[in-house]
Amino acid sequence: MRAVSSRGAKRPRPHPFLKWAGGKYTKLPALLERLPEGPIDLYVEPFLGGGALFLELARQGRIRRAILNDRNPELVETWQAIAADPDGVYDETQSWYNDEQSYYEVRQAQYDTPNRRAARVLWLNRTCFNGLYRINRSGQFNVPYGHYKKVRFDHANLRAVSKALREADVEIVSDDFEAVLGRAGAGALVYCDPPYWPVSDTAKFTAYDGIPFNADDQRRLDAAFRALESRGARGLLSNACVPATLELYAGLPQARVQMRRSINRKATGRGPVDELLVGTPSLASRFRAAR
Ligand SMILES: C[S@@+](CC[C@H](N)C(=O)[O-])C[C@H]1O[C@@H](n2cnc3c(N)ncnc32)[C@H](O)[C@@H]1O
Repeated sequence: MRAVSSRGAKRPRPHPFLKWAGGKYTKLPALLERLPEGPIDLYVEPFLGGGALFLELARQGRIRRAILNDRNPELVETWQAIAADPDGVYDETQSWYNDEQSYYEVRQAQYDTPNRRAARVLWLNRTCFNGLYRINRSGQFNVPYGHYKKVRFDHANLRAVSKALREADVEIVSDDFEAVLGRAGAGALVYCDPPYWPVSDTAKFTAYDGIPFNADDQRRLDAAFRALESRGARGLLSNACVPATLELYAGLPQARVQMRRSINRKATGRGPVDELLVGTPSLASRFRAAR
């Protein structure tokens, strides 16, 4: 997708640089229409992943300050490297051949510079089977080779993402969501997109980093999300629309939205599902006004 600048020249629209399970790029309209309009003093995203909503709000020039967080340190380091040196990261992505032997060498390798480590994450994401990010309990990326003929890296997008991150005052951290939600005070806007409550017993893709996100984590999140309102912060949250989440978030503004997942059911157990959007009470009028 490209945007045209005020001078008429084409400039790339920053968009997720990774294929990420549960990514929200194609679902932005449903999220945007439930958020307040206008500038955002502090934007907090505790489950960053591919960061689709942050990048869109930053492109719109609405974010003054942001705290972006994900528990996955490798993902966070990739965001940090792209913020600091998009050209350096892009150059490193050109280092490897796209063949099976190179894939397993890169998958196994440990590199000693942030740019090369970030390039490895981008490269594995493009060349692995189905763009899946999965690591085992010992922290090793274990997705097989994807056998894709063409592998392309979008240099202009890396620059656009870096610009979006540098134009707003952005802090990118790797912590548990609860610590980050605790920093959202008066005027903050929070978007929570956690690993989803499993839709069925066979759909259990909840471990992005080898550590499952279990029912206790879902309940911790519910409590931390509800606490936002009393501090003057507003919040929007996505989850699977299942009886357990409808019950968990009872009493808060809710909307059921049809979503199609970007990574298919076979690979992740996350096929088309109905999604639940939940808001803090001060977003009730936005939920009522949404189509
Ligand atoms: C559904 S994805 C977010 C997708 C993102 N909104 C996008 O557009 O790509 C959920 C993210 O939560 C992260 N995560 C899992 N458990 C976490 C925790 N306890 N605290 C913070 N992040 C966590 C995962 O690493 C994963 O990147």
